[in-house]
Amino acid sequence: MAGVTASGPDAARRPIAVFDSGVGGLTVLHELLVSLAHEDFVYLGDTARFPYGDRSPDELRRFAVEVADVLLAQEAKLLVIACNAATSAAFDAVADHVAHTGRDIGVIGVVTPESQQAVEATHNGRIGLLATPVTVASGAYARAVAAADPNVQLVSVPCPDLAPIIQNGFPFDEHVVDTVRAYVAPLREAQVDTVILGCTHYPLVRPMLQRMLGRDVTLVSSGAAIARRVEHALAVAGLESPKRGEGDYRFMCTADVESFRTLGTRFLQMPLGQVAHVELRAQVTG
Ligand code: DGL
Repeated sequence: MAGVTASGPDAARRPIAVFDSGVGGLTVLHELLVSLAHEDFVYLGDTARFPYGDRSPDELRRFAVEVADVLLAQEAKLLVIACNAATSAAFDAVADHVAHTGRDIGVIGVVTPESQQAVEATHNGRIGLLATPVTVASGAYARAVAAADPNVQLVSVPCPDLAPIIQNGFPFDEHVVDTVRAYVAPLREAQVDTVILGCTHYPLVRPMLQRMLGRDVTLVSSGAAIARRVEHALAVAGLESPKRGEGDYRFMCTADVESFRTLGTRFLQMPLGQVAHVELRAQVTG
């Protein structure tokens, strides 16, 4: 995490910004809303350029920096990258960009907390990773897991179809079940006892994954660990909101707002209210 030192008399009253390629980051926002109920949040889903998972790292860096600018314009006091693909490819680019704007806003990503949690959870030293292709290819989890414990073995499975299947909505049919089963097979074979859900969309198929992997396998997702990090970062910087009661939350997306509201309500399991449309311009290549 980059340092959290936003200051000024009203800094603590500013919102925490959260972003993802789509609605997956709402699984992280959900935890934040529960753990930090008095804070305000602004969420951006870059739905027009979803999925991020099969894009190049260079593209993701441009997208993430552009999104960060929109969220800085919302006067955010902290930026949470609730997308594993964007964190893996673009965390340093976003942190550097934010620092260059001259605003000392902290940036928190989703890879490190999950990796540490997984290393703490494993008993047999074999951890599985389900993630998008760009996240697996980045090696970010392999590095983070090795940094936490070099003796742990990580078995990574790129899942090109899983986030799009989830983002396309419910109900899940047999084809979805077969797709998920195929992704899980190498992890069963490797007899991992812990699996990192390396994409913020995946908690939505948690029951299916748990059933296929067995109850003894621990599934690790980012939401709760991120909430603890955010809480800690705000406390250290003296940026906890002085407000009492429940804070506000609002949304922005880059494609159709009605689709975002409908799907987002299912992901968040709370009403979304107003969703604003924002236009982003970084070129889509490939
Ligand atoms: N939710 C994003 C992540 O955590 C991935 C979905 C996508 O491919 O855009 O990686």
